[in-house]
Amino acid sequence: LSRLNTKILGKNLYFYETIDSTNNELKKMAAEGACEGTVVIALCQTEGRGRRGRRWQSDAGSGIYMSVLLKPDLPPTAVQSITLLASSAVCKVLEKYVKSGLGIKWPNDILINNKKVCGILTEMTSEPDKVQAIILGIGLNVWNREEDFGDELKHTATSLCLNTDREISRTQLVVEILKELEDLYLNFVEKGSSAKFMDIWRCFSVTIGRDIIVIQGENRWQAKALDVLDDGRLLVETPDGKRQTVLSGEISIRSC
Ligand code: BTN
Repeated sequence: LSRLNTKILGKNLYFYETIDSTNNELKKMAAEGACEGTVVIALCQTEGRGRRGRRWQSDAGSGIYMSVLLKPDLPPTAVQSITLLASSAVCKVLEKYVKSGLGIKWPNDILINNKKVCGILTEMTSEPDKVQAIILGIGLNVWNREEDFGDELKHTATSLCLNTDREISRTQLVVEILKELEDLYLNFVEKGSSAKFMDIWRCFSVTIGRDIIVIQGENRWQAKALDVLDDGRLLVETPDGKRQTVLSGEISIRSC
């Protein structure tokens, strides 16, 4: 990674062939005082984790499994914004590779033609009113072939190599993602403005303006997605015309 052209992200970089989960490893490092920008990358994860306790398929050689440590001087509520920032950064990089169909489903699933290519798992330790550490985990499917996904994922997952004509190097992708992430992150924490990454997020959103089903635990309800607020909440309108925001949960987009 000698091509890394960042100021802080990846200056301390730990590379593993196999690890349980890069997020787990970085969390331990954070507890032992690792500095902001520390990055853990693995070729393979044995216990790669997704959101909501799901497993993240992390076969050797297939994807990028990377976690980045951030320590913004912000309240814990900022964590959702950092998630949007990260999906915006990944999309900015992927748009150089993918001609059409790239989109972000709230809050942070990156899709190509409605199939998931990248997931982001943001975990945080905090004091009551201040973030201590944010572990930003990025899982990007790069070299997976259709048959690698198995029955469970074959209709819902895809990879970069299945959607690009461009030559792919995982090292180059890591360099580009860390650079894009750092630019947006420093802009956010130094200028205090989320405008830049929110513009990108909205531009790639496949959620805004759509009829959706909000899934919160056992609860499912219909709504129309109107916008995403700067703090990451989804603004929706229910069929009876009431507006409300959704802080967490999952959505599925209703096809017309
Ligand atoms: C999702 O469910 O969409 C989030 C998936 C996040 C996967 C990445 S891979 C690197 C990091 N380490 C993990 O165990 N999970 C994240």
